[in-house]
Amino acid sequence: MAKKYRVAVVGAGLVGKKMVEILLERNFPLSSLRVLATRKREEIIAGQKFLVEETTPESFREIDLALFAGTEGEKGASRTFARKAIAEGTIVIDNGSDFRLEPDVPLVVPEVNKAALKYHQGLIANPNCSTIQMVMILAPLSATFGLNRVIVSTYQAVSGTGREAMDELENQIRAYCSGQTLSPQVYPHPIAFNIFPHIGGLSQEFPGYFAEEVKMIKETRKILNKPDLPISATCVRVPVFNGHCESLTVELKKPANPEEARAILSRMPGVKIVDDPERNEYPLPTAASGKDEVLVGRIRANPIFQFGLDLWIAADNIRKGAALNAVQIAEEMLAQGLL
Ligand SMILES: NC(=O)c1ccc[n+]([C@@H]2O[C@H](COP(=O)([O-])OP(=O)(O)OC[C@H]3O[C@@H](n4cnc5c(N)ncnc54)[C@H](OP(=O)(O)O)[C@@H]3O)[C@@H](O)[C@H]2O)c1
Repeated sequence: MAKKYRVAVVGAGLVGKKMVEILLERNFPLSSLRVLATRKREEIIAGQKFLVEETTPESFREIDLALFAGTEGEKGASRTFARKAIAEGTIVIDNGSDFRLEPDVPLVVPEVNKAALKYHQGLIANPNCSTIQMVMILAPLSATFGLNRVIVSTYQAVSGTGREAMDELENQIRAYCSGQTLSPQVYPHPIAFNIFPHIGGLSQEFPGYFAEEVKMIKETRKILNKPDLPISATCVRVPVFNGHCESLTVELKKPANPEEARAILSRMPGVKIVDDPERNEYPLPTAASGKDEVLVGRIRANPIFQFGLDLWIAADNIRKGAALNAVQIAEEMLAQGLL
């Protein structure tokens, strides 16, 4: 009989709940599934009642695989518990940014660099949501035409910040429609009927850049194994509930016309072409939301770079940008006999 695994999801926020849903939806071979967070309570997740447990260092004693989706940083779940879990023999797939750039931590998008998994030391990192959807497009273009330079601007949904940010957008819209204003709690500015080019803290290393932009630069270089790839990112928060979009400009090493690029991208697993502008068909966050694929369209020659293309992409940042990619990593570990 095929082996089944004792799995824990750490974090019961937007991403943690979606991980539970996707593990069940894709029939991951589970012998048990526990949900851990900061405090004990009952929650309905994917239509089932789960007893959410408080995470402690002992929580991982009987766990084969832990998917971490807790808050990032000093007091977050990953920094507090991931190394302890590994010491208990648990394999950790971490969704946050705490370990992504460490040299002994594979940073994996299975369709792009699954070979990196075999070098794992107990911890595998899931990339940033904006990075995942971009490398799904860059990797096949790079493999065929070579990649010289990348310029990207993102249009990121509030679900990327978590549940409280989704509530903030909804509450501000309701207040606005009834003639009131609500002061922001989660973001530095009102998000309803507004946008701002600010995601994360200011970087010391890349003066003038915010953290999300630096994540896109460094993580893309690591995943594509191109440490010197010239790449510039501008990350923008927009009043969309779910689904990140990106305007992507690439300079390739060889000529690529839009038809060839479309053909290459149509063969990439996990990518779907939505590109019929005459019929008003192009990737939308509302269409990407709830879907597994990264949608790509508006594929056109860039008039500035000699071998340049412009593209527009959309993906569900909670699914492919976080929970789905983490579960796909776990599935790939199984397929490679690493679990
Ligand atoms: N949302 C996205 O698009 C996205 C994409 C990629 C990556 N991520 C990353 O994924 C992580 C989770 O995001 P989210 O949107 O799900 O956040 P969220 O809705 O704010 O949920 C965070 C969860 O983490 C739990 N938690 C926090 N500190 C913990 C600790 N020390 N020990 C155990 N559990 C702890 C919280 O527990 P309680 O419920 O008990 O408070 C909560 O369930 C973050 O690191 C985020 O940066 C998010």
